[in-house]
Amino acid sequence: MTRNESIDMEQKHSPEKFYVTTPIYYVNDVPHIGHAYTTVAADVLARYNRLTGKKVFFLTGTDEHGQKVEKAAKDKGLTPQEHADIMVGNFKSLWEKLNISNDAFIRTTDAEHIKTVQGLIQVLRDKGEIEKRQYAGWYCTPDERFWTEKDLVEGNCPDCGRPVEQIQEENYFFLMSKYQKRLIKYIEDNPSYILPDTRRNEVLGFLKNNTLGDLCISRPKSRLSWGIPFPFDENFVTYVWFDALVNYYSATKYLAPCSSESSRNDLPLAPENWWPADHHLVGKDILTTHAVYWSTMLMALDFPLPKNIFAHGWWTVDGKKMSKSIGNVVDPNEMIEKYGADAFRCFLFREVPFGLDGNFSEEALINRTNTDLANDLGNLLSRFSTMAEKYLNGEIKKPESFDRIDDFTRQCMAAGFEAHNYERNWASLRFNVILDHIWERIRAANNYIAQTEPWKLAKSNPGYLMEVLFNLWNALRLTAVSLCPFMPDTAEKMWKQLGLRSLIEETKQSLPKIPVEGPGNYPGIFTWDWMPGYEIKVSKGEQLFPRIEVKKEITKEKEGKGTMTESGQASTEQKTEENLISIEDFAKVQLKIGKVLHAERVEKSNKLIKLQVDTGEKRQVVAGIGKAYTPEELTGKSIVVVTNLKPARLMGVESQGMLLAATDSNGVLSILAPEKDVKEGAVIK
Ligand code: MSP
Repeated sequence: MTRNESIDMEQKHSPEKFYVTTPIYYVNDVPHIGHAYTTVAADVLARYNRLTGKKVFFLTGTDEHGQKVEKAAKDKGLTPQEHADIMVGNFKSLWEKLNISNDAFIRTTDAEHIKTVQGLIQVLRDKGEIEKRQYAGWYCTPDERFWTEKDLVEGNCPDCGRPVEQIQEENYFFLMSKYQKRLIKYIEDNPSYILPDTRRNEVLGFLKNNTLGDLCISRPKSRLSWGIPFPFDENFVTYVWFDALVNYYSATKYLAPCSSESSRNDLPLAPENWWPADHHLVGKDILTTHAVYWSTMLMALDFPLPKNIFAHGWWTVDGKKMSKSIGNVVDPNEMIEKYGADAFRCFLFREVPFGLDGNFSEEALINRTNTDLANDLGNLLSRFSTMAEKYLNGEIKKPESFDRIDDFTRQCMAAGFEAHNYERNWASLRFNVILDHIWERIRAANNYIAQTEPWKLAKSNPGYLMEVLFNLWNALRLTAVSLCPFMPDTAEKMWKQLGLRSLIEETKQSLPKIPVEGPGNYPGIFTWDWMPGYEIKVSKGEQLFPRIEVKKEITKEKEGKGTMTESGQASTEQKTEENLISIEDFAKVQLKIGKVLHAERVEKSNKLIKLQVDTGEKRQVVAGIGKAYTPEELTGKSIVVVTNLKPARLMGVESQGMLLAATDSNGVLSILAPEKDVKEGAVIK
């Protein structure tokens, strides 16, 4: 690797290629729902982009160096490499079960990756971007991070809360601090670089309010041997994050698809053409390492930055953080076995907007599967195919002329792939909105059957019956196309029942000859009047999603949460006398309307917001709503406050009252507000 090996800026962001990555996962643990979430999201994007004819590189993999892995291996009496070789299988087998279509799987112990990391360290050293320094700092071993004195929270790691140790040693530093201004400007000039907006604002806030330090990128071999050796100093290995982040680039050099066989035009596919990535998908906890460390590393290397870093939220389980000690870690393997990969995949994105935190519960997954998949989608296909077989012998043809364009047809035609900001929703990863639109069409199609009553038309108006069944066929076909990225198996099953051959193959064949950027680039298969060049024979197949009958009652671990009934519906706990309070008890609580005069985040907390509220008198209220609201949104709002609570201290900040908010089973949090304008201080009775 030489210094000249920088990338030609001209080649970046080709509309014809699409490169998406997941974080590479630590092999010190087995995969859980969090890992599955990002990986399915990347898969959905990869599949959608392949459908639209782009050449896709979808990368996932494992992060195999560092202290955590070294320790996990030691605990099992294995070498780190042996341990990694075993653990990597858990990820690969889960991705297979989840139908993940990654084009490559990178391991940071790959010889080519190691060579690239060493090459880049040398480039940075030659450019004067790396310096050796004496360093003293507070080190969090589990997180493998140094902190300064002022970062610590009550003497502990601000991230994980565990104790830190004072360490003094020589190390190599990447001169990250000099890129602070340039990074701020870059983020400001490129609003879609970090998404969602709230996360971009957080990163900007952090960069503007703190002085960026230099980044310690080495570890003395004496303390950690399981890492990539420094190319110019054998006493050091590379800090695990420096090694890990480079995977996104190094994969383009030895794992990206280079053959042109799947390319529909002659795009030159030299490895360098794959960089930069279109999306790095990451969880919110690792946004800083990507948005700050990785971005500045790329700037120092004179490499283009990725188009976008998207930070998604976290899943809690029954309202609690997932943790081994609570025993509430969701194993995706188990969910797939019970409910199928497609139901699980769809649930992850139907339930919660990508970017926000969500609450996982098996009940919610069962309810979604029964209502959305078995009732709405499954019934539609089965009703349609039964009627098509019965009345038309399964033969669907496009009517020569239409007797009438009914509302449903008009609606479906208008709701094509260019409507509803379809393209923009994909660009900003609004998966739940895309799914909402799909379900609008499914429900409209079910209503259409109820309105037109095809069983009556069979006798009274066979011409119109043909039209109705053709329209339903078309609506189901488009539903299969649009569901394909989310539920690939289901989409193919639907396709076959609709009398078609192969969704993926037929999509490729219907690609426009000359690709155009933006709307209009969709293959013919995405349009309302597409027909294949062969005869269609609809055949009723197996039920897509049988209703889930919960044989055994799923008893909640905690009291007061209700139990699952036979039909999968949650029944609420019976109210006992002890749970009831008297009117006198309630009257003790003083509730008032308050107006938020000012709001700001409590330092070092991403949950707490400190509000100055006027409830007739001024008071300070601290509320745990920082994941759902920004301080800017809150200022000026009218809220409901409990005004006679004993003052309490939250993270050292006094709270004189409590704000009322509701959280539903999806984890959506909403503060309560008066329905009309009422003056601050108004009493609630
Ligand atoms: N190895 C690093 C990433 C290096 S990328 C260059 C790492 N690995 S990890 O295995 O610990 O975590 C990977 C991902 O899992 C992170 O994106 C994290 O946000 C995600 N999740 C972990 N728990 C999660 C939930 N409960 N919910 C959603 N995602 C969560 O970090």
